[in-house]
Amino acid sequence: MKKAYVLLALAGLIAFPVHAEGNISAKQSEVMKKLLVAYAAKAKVEVKEEKGRGTVSDKPFTAEAGQKFFLIRRTWQSGDFTCSGCHTEDPRKEGKHIKTKAPIKPLAPSVNPERFVDVQKVEANFTAHCMDLHERDCTAYEKGNLIAYLMSVK
Ligand code: HEC
Repeated sequence: MKKAYVLLALAGLIAFPVHAEGNISAKQSEVMKKLLVAYAAKAKVEVKEEKGRGTVSDKPFTAEAGQKFFLIRRTWQSGDFTCSGCHTEDPRKEGKHIKTKAPIKPLAPSVNPERFVDVQKVEANFTAHCMDLHERDCTAYEKGNLIAYLMSVK
């Protein structure tokens, strides 16, 4: 168990050589790296289980796929129901809640040091918003891509 965990962590570091760069703090970089390692492991399980909902893949995460996911629009829903509906199409910008109109601080870690500093908070928000938009939790592949995208936003 312990050995497997160490191996997993090493695999993660090799697969995602992420450093504190730009305006992303060391803490944010650490939390996002942890998430990427966990999502990469979970994505492999999801591929094996062939869950029918959402995109499953064990391919490496890419910022491009993450951005596409962020901008996806559910046309059958009324209103601007996308991640970007509340978070804007530019995650560096301040968002606005589509229902309450309350301002939402930017999602991009490069401009908001309070984002991605707590694994549990990220997971809770992810799951809640994925349920709102897609009526399911997002897959690990979708989440990993989104993290890769947000890390790439300078
Ligand atoms: C209906 C509005 C709304 C939509 C749609 C929405 N979000 Fe959010 N999001 C919020 C609010 C509000 C917060 C919390 C802001 C805060 O804590 O400052 C938040 C926070 C987050 C966080 C937390 C990051 C952190 O560490 O603070 C993540 C990750 C996130 N959203 C991802 C998503 C994704 C992915 C989608 C699309 C599947 C999405 N959101 C769609 C309103 C929304």
